[in-house]
Amino acid sequence: MLSGKRLLLIVSGGIAAYKTPDLVRRLRGQGAEVRVVMTAAAEQFVTPLSLASVSGQRVYQALFSLTDEAEMGHIELSRAADLVIVAPASADLLAKLANGLADDLASTLLLATDKEVLAAPAMNVRMWEHPATQENLARLKRRGLLIVGPDEGEMACGEYGPGRMAEPDAIVAAVAEHFNMPRPLSGLSALVTSGPTHEPIDPVRYIANRSSGRQGHAIAHALAHQGAAVTLVTGPVQLPDPAGVKTVHVESAREMLQACQAELPVDIAVCAAAVSDWRASEEATQKIKKDGSSLPALQLSENPDILAQLSKAGAQRPRLVIGFAAETRDVAAQAAAKRDRKGCDWILANDVSAESGTFGGPDNSIILIDGQGREDWPRTSKEGVAERLAVRIAQALEGKPEEESRMPEPIQDGQQK
Ligand code: CTP
Repeated sequence: MLSGKRLLLIVSGGIAAYKTPDLVRRLRGQGAEVRVVMTAAAEQFVTPLSLASVSGQRVYQALFSLTDEAEMGHIELSRAADLVIVAPASADLLAKLANGLADDLASTLLLATDKEVLAAPAMNVRMWEHPATQENLARLKRRGLLIVGPDEGEMACGEYGPGRMAEPDAIVAAVAEHFNMPRPLSGLSALVTSGPTHEPIDPVRYIANRSSGRQGHAIAHALAHQGAAVTLVTGPVQLPDPAGVKTVHVESAREMLQACQAELPVDIAVCAAAVSDWRASEEATQKIKKDGSSLPALQLSENPDILAQLSKAGAQRPRLVIGFAAETRDVAAQAAAKRDRKGCDWILANDVSAESGTFGGPDNSIILIDGQGREDWPRTSKEGVAERLAVRIAQALEGKPEEESRMPEPIQDGQQK
């Protein structure tokens, strides 16, 4: 049942749009409230009047309509929903979403929403199979887009193959599954760090590293998907904020530590950020200039270790503290030593040697080290690692009262780095 769920249905241009009044009727039949947004192309296949009649609400079409903005701005429209559904999702709309284009109301809403998006693709089989569409989809899936269908069969254009929009009852089932799926981390809070940090040298220069933030962002999304209330504290990255996650943007290690401490207490902490170990001892207030003779010397100071600090946060220590160990040799042994040194519960060791392509790349292979031993995970996408970690965390905390699920080894003074 979908009682009380607020759904935003975006209808894009495709013959399958004629099925959307039926979809709206079925969603409302389950108790959901449905607001409909149509692209200009969608109006060629289904009338706004039909959708207004079945949804019992006005239908939104234009981005720059004064009436629309006076009633509900597009940002609000995209946020006042529990789930955004795109059906049919045309190749064009998926391409816009993959590339962040926002030239009409539908694409603007998709860019502005902080909610999860479920898309039901529908297009000609050749368009579906085109590498451009498949690449767009892969990119969107990495960002957490949920997909239902497409079905395989005879198409309106007479061709046969995958590309037909999933039937309305299958879309309703996918929506119900989304809301009703067990969320083992419901009621728990999580803090995730991600990305590199930038340590200023002068107003134009900084120390940084090659971290993309993909692993940390994927973990934040996966934990939220399992029901946790997640705060992501991220250094500068080229990634969108994950849907359904509170994201705090910082630059330096010290800012990251402060932002993390402000979130305590939390149940789970995952430190995936590639925090710069050092910062310039003094940040020059003016740009450092060449003087033609001597080279400038950079004096470094050690940054706070966020993982170690969270691990020894006393009464505020998260129930489960997880760190990463980026190593280039003796991966497991180095990681186990790092776990002891930092006082965290689990270390996810990963090989970041140049040959592995892990740093900044799409995949990761993990060795999980806890107090008991090691688990070797097969090499998979960073999203796959994130999903597995979220499930593993849920298993570890499931049904265990707080004291019992706390897993630190005793920490001795001076043990942390
Ligand atoms: N970490 C942190 N704060 C720091 C440095 C590291 O929170 N100042 C966290 C990372 O997020 C990661 C773990 O510590 O979870 C390990 O980071 P890594 O760079 O692999 O190890 P280092 O502590 O830098 O140790 P070394 O340089 O000896 O490899």
